Amino acid sequence: SKRIPLVAGNWKMNFDHLEATYFIQQFAWKLRAIHFDHKRCEIALMPSFTSLRSVQVAIESDNLKIRYGAQAVSVTSQGAFTGDVSADMIAHLGCSYVIVGHSERRKYHPEDDANIVDQVRAVLAAGMQPILCVGESYEERRKGIELDFAVGQVRDVTCDLSDEEAAKLIVAYEPVWAIGTGMVATPQSAQDAAKAIRNDLSATFGTEVGETVRILYGGSVSSKNAVELIREPDVDGFLIGGAALKVDELTRICKLT
Ligand code: G3H
Repeated sequence: SKRIPLVAGNWKMNFDHLEATYFIQQFAWKLRAIHFDHKRCEIALMPSFTSLRSVQVAIESDNLKIRYGAQAVSVTSQGAFTGDVSADMIAHLGCSYVIVGHSERRKYHPEDDANIVDQVRAVLAAGMQPILCVGESYEERRKGIELDFAVGQVRDVTCDLSDEEAAKLIVAYEPVWAIGTGMVATPQSAQDAAKAIRNDLSATFGTEVGETVRILYGGSVSSKNAVELIREPDVDGFLIGGAALKVDELTRICKLT
């Protein structure tokens, strides 16, 4: 396809700024050793807010072609919102992406659709790309409604976007039962979900948008299962948790994507 694959590492609440800097130095060394072609596959890292500045410095000072972003964002632009971080603050650190609506955020904070829509808008308005996470829990899978569920989640969040805005989306299909469990979706079911989401985006925003939006798979991705998953035509890369905390493992996944 014309879409350049994306390997995005979501570090979640791991690594302080020193560990993040050290990881990037090691990772850069490994990527150079294998002559990694950054034009063929894009790499992005999502550290904690506290590490973003160090990540920016590490990447810029070594002129690395690794992108980075945040794991969440405030829906408001500034003011009396203790503990929140605005999209502009994130953008001004050189971030390309912000993860929006991750199932852990939906569960622990909790974020609802209205809040997620506003996060998407804030990210786009600040000139970055949202990585919108969707995916069914075990309950919906058991009922056999996983495709409708994931498509519905995308639709609920994107329905008011313009075509231009929708074209900037990245969607991560992450079945909740696969996150951090070691239970990965089969390549076929990852493909089915990605295809269903793409078809729905095409129906709403036109095929050009549908064919532009990258759809990642997330949930227990490793260098063992990534080979088969990336062969699927509508799977454009990965959102990786646990495996993105290990330099060698992440390098292997980037190499085979
Ligand atoms: O954002 C990443 C996903 O939650 C996947 O995490 O690779 O540890 O299963 P995992």
